[in-house]
Amino acid sequence: MSLTNADHAIAVEELRKEYGAKHALASVDLTVPRATVQAVLGPNGAGKTTLVRILATLLRPTAGRAEVAGLDVTRHAGAVRARIGLLGQHAAVDEELSGRQNLELFGRLYHLGARRAAARAQELLQRFGLADTGKKAVTQYSGGMRRRLDLAASLIMEPEILFLDEPTTGLDPRGRTEVWEAVRGLVGGGTTVLLTTQYLEEADQLADAIVVVDQGRVIAEGTADQLKAGLGADRIDVVVHDAAQLASAASVVGMAAKADDVTTDADRRLVSAPVRDRMAALTEAVRALDAAGIRAEDIALRRPTLNEVFLHLTDDDETKTGAAV
Ligand SMILES: Nc1ncnc2c1ncn2[C@@H]1O[C@H](COP(=O)(O)OP(=O)(O)OP(=O)(O)O)[C@@H](O)[C@H]1O
Ligand SMILES: [Mg+2]
Repeated sequence: MSLTNADHAIAVEELRKEYGAKHALASVDLTVPRATVQAVLGPNGAGKTTLVRILATLLRPTAGRAEVAGLDVTRHAGAVRARIGLLGQHAAVDEELSGRQNLELFGRLYHLGARRAAARAQELLQRFGLADTGKKAVTQYSGGMRRRLDLAASLIMEPEILFLDEPTTGLDPRGRTEVWEAVRGLVGGGTTVLLTTQYLEEADQLADAIVVVDQGRVIAEGTADQLKAGLGADRIDVVVHDAAQLASAASVVGMAAKADDVTTDADRRLVSAPVRDRMAALTEAVRALDAAGIRAEDIALRRPTLNEVFLHLTDDDETKTGAAV
């Protein structure tokens, strides 16, 4: 079967990567339509970087096929490379140089002439809000500035398809927001982005589609909404007035919701449980809390967060038996 499909920026079929007996990737399938953002979400060691490095032609797969921009990554590595940009997990800018010097250097490495390299550097510095950094060396950049420079460097050649390996890991919320803005701008301009992340919120914010990987396998896929819906259950949240009643509230709410995986958060005086029948659980929780003499400050029904979906999906089987599916 041919994977080639003009609508797909990326197509991966039964892709495997083994290191000796270790499966870094065990049969991954994935297609990414053009001008969309695909998030690859997973914990440490899931296989995210391995997948990105294979797609970026830096690593050869053990078996299976991968096409980027309609081109086989092993047979047409050079042509693939001309169409992609890569922001590695550990970026490659020179710390001693300024942002401008780094970008000009990258331009020259890609055989842009001196004038075009300088013009491109200027354009990218401006686009990522780094134009007034002057001669400041990268060592003096904040984390957010640094990651935006990395992003600028990956865009020197105006790639059709951009791979971002954990673009915001280690950034504070502001730095993260800055990078998100930059990524949104790119996608608005027609670039296809595949990004890896350990942050569910990031996938939720940026991605059109999400695959969740764990131990080299895709364990769930869909939009953020589909993944949330896949968990099946909405949740009931109860904030109790008196922290001392948290444990008894947990057992009361658990019974009312017919759930055995009730979670509590002592700092927020919060009890949370999945529910199958929303209204019945709500009515029963109100009644049962009242009967038990527990004062609730707030009771609400809500969809599960992506974080809860993720924990549910990557949990060991024995710890997830209580969760509603
Ligand atoms: N060169 C290698 N030799 C042996 N095993 C490797 C090699 N590179 C990666 N692995 C293993 O393959 C698995 C997947 O690694 P990978 O770097 O793709 O994970 P990741 O999802 O990017 O993790 P992280 O979030 O920590 O970056 C891990 O178990 C890792 O130890
Ligand atoms: Mg990685």
